[in-house]
Amino acid sequence: MRFVLASANPDKAAEIAAILHGFEVLPRPPEVPDVDETGETLEDNARLKARALVDATGQPAVADDTGLEVTALGGAPGVVSARYAGVGATYAANVDKLLAALEGEEDRRARFRTVAIALFPEGREVVTEGVVEGEITTERMGSGGFGYDPVFAPSGCGGRTFAQMTPAEKNTLSHRGRAFRALAEGLLCV
Ligand code: IMP
Repeated sequence: MRFVLASANPDKAAEIAAILHGFEVLPRPPEVPDVDETGETLEDNARLKARALVDATGQPAVADDTGLEVTALGGAPGVVSARYAGVGATYAANVDKLLAALEGEEDRRARFRTVAIALFPEGREVVTEGVVEGEITTERMGSGGFGYDPVFAPSGCGGRTFAQMTPAEKNTLSHRGRAFRALAEGLLCV
């Protein structure tokens, strides 16, 4: 089975292709533009990205969408995690806004959630979810990873953040790793 991948981010693409070993995974063709993520849920957005690729290429496509859900913020930033501090916000600005929003807050529980989808031209789809529970630290720690990694400490890892882990450690625990391993399993039975 062969899939076109929605993510144009080379790090994420390599990570996903490694998990979907056994399947042929092609990068997104450069002429296919980014999709506006206008959905109200992670699943809506993942499906929008996959649908755009299927329509443009006529091939099965794989897409995902991720959000950071903070308990004390009622699940925010959630589906708007990439633009929490505004459209085009940097990772640093998003993290600053998050730390400010949780200033003095004792309940620091949070989870990353990824929805992954494989969509076939005739409309069949496989949808999976991956979750990692953890806490938002009070300050940045570590220099690896991206996004909210410096302030997200997954549960049961002694308070270390994703940014203090090797890529292999993070992939083993992460929301995206879990969602795509479940997708690889789901695709075996399609
Ligand atoms: P996307 O759907 O994978 O593009 O993720 C949306 C936003 O969530 C990104 O812009 C990041 O801010 C954040 N994010 C997604 N995955 C991760 C991760 O593994 N670590 C830290 N932040 C992430």
